[in-house]
Amino acid sequence: MAEVKLKKIYKAYTGKTQVVKNVNLQIHDKEFVVLVGPSGCGKSTTLRMIAGLEDITEGSIHIGDRLINDVPAKDRNIAMVFQNYALYPHMNVYANMAFALKLRKYSKADIDLRVTEAAEILGISHLVTRKPKEISGGERQRVAVGRAIVRKPDVFLFDEPLSNLDAKLRVQMRTELHKLHLKIQTTMIYVTHDQTEAMTLGDRIAVMKDGQVLQFDSPLDVYDNPINKFVAGFIGSPPMNFMNGKIVKDNGSLYFGEGKFRIKALGDMNSKLEKYIDKEVVFGIRPENIYDKLFASNATPDNTLNAICDVMETMGSENHLYLSTDKNTMVAVVEASNKPTIGSMVEVVFDMEKVHFFDPSTEETIV
Ligand SMILES: Nc1ncnc2c1ncn2[C@@H]1O[C@H](COP(=O)(O)OP(=O)(O)O)[C@@H](O)[C@H]1O
Ligand SMILES: [Mg+2]
Repeated sequence: MAEVKLKKIYKAYTGKTQVVKNVNLQIHDKEFVVLVGPSGCGKSTTLRMIAGLEDITEGSIHIGDRLINDVPAKDRNIAMVFQNYALYPHMNVYANMAFALKLRKYSKADIDLRVTEAAEILGISHLVTRKPKEISGGERQRVAVGRAIVRKPDVFLFDEPLSNLDAKLRVQMRTELHKLHLKIQTTMIYVTHDQTEAMTLGDRIAVMKDGQVLQFDSPLDVYDNPINKFVAGFIGSPPMNFMNGKIVKDNGSLYFGEGKFRIKALGDMNSKLEKYIDKEVVFGIRPENIYDKLFASNATPDNTLNAICDVMETMGSENHLYLSTDKNTMVAVVEASNKPTIGSMVEVVFDMEKVHFFDPSTEETIV
């Protein structure tokens, strides 16, 4: 049983400003939680406070019922895997995995059982007699995870463990970590700056910026209902398109004015948009919610505008269209058969069920 609770956590390194500010997270037993955000936002610091590698300036951390603020790292029953996995070069894989258990004076038989089991789970049984320099980067990363598994910790902490691997291996190891979590059913807290890793691995993801957690939700909730413009733009690739314009009222209906064109808000958005009439807002739409009119069945004058197709990227399964109006630019992800001529006018249709509006000064979500 290892629920992890962070309550009003603050961190200031000596003589510096706060780098973690009022972080509150209640991580369930067996949950896989990802802390994601741009470099320098305080992810590693938060993780290191949980691990006991960094003092907590203010607030409390519980693992299960145990307050661990003053418990030394080695007594927290937590295992951490880092980006540079730092295996002992002179020891073989088996000895690397056994090392922490030896230090803790486990019996030879118990060590053997645990190392053999972990090696099997990770598919590295055939490598146990090799030295780190005799195995590949992906295999080394597996050994680093193996070192953590053998201890059967209450909680696993991962700090960007895949960043040193090439793109293909990263995707493969991501799937393996996912499977590992399903197999060993232990609480995992995983730090990354990569939103794709966060989306694919997390049961829930905490999006961080400037030392704060902006949103803590399931990946789909974060994707579909971002709390503000930063989260909306950070999660998703290619990122959400943002356009500036005014809300105007005409004949009882509200419209978003995009230069020469206007896009009609859906009726149920009106109550939230009323107070922005004649004011600037930021309109947000994801690339996959923009269609070429030739391929759309729901086009009306109220959700269609003209744009020039400046660039097309062919991805094989889909095309990315870089479009511009007289006022804004946007990216649309469309099916591979949808290939407008470069420089030509495209009539683009917005799926209005999927659009967002943000306040331009607070950046908070309006709709
Ligand atoms: N030991 C340290 N001493 C002083 N400042 C630090 C230390 N470690 C990290 N920081 C600062 O704290 C902020 C958060 O860093 P970090 O938690 O490593 O961010 P992330 O892991 O999200 O990239 C950064 O501004 C970083 O420069
Ligand atoms: Mg970091």
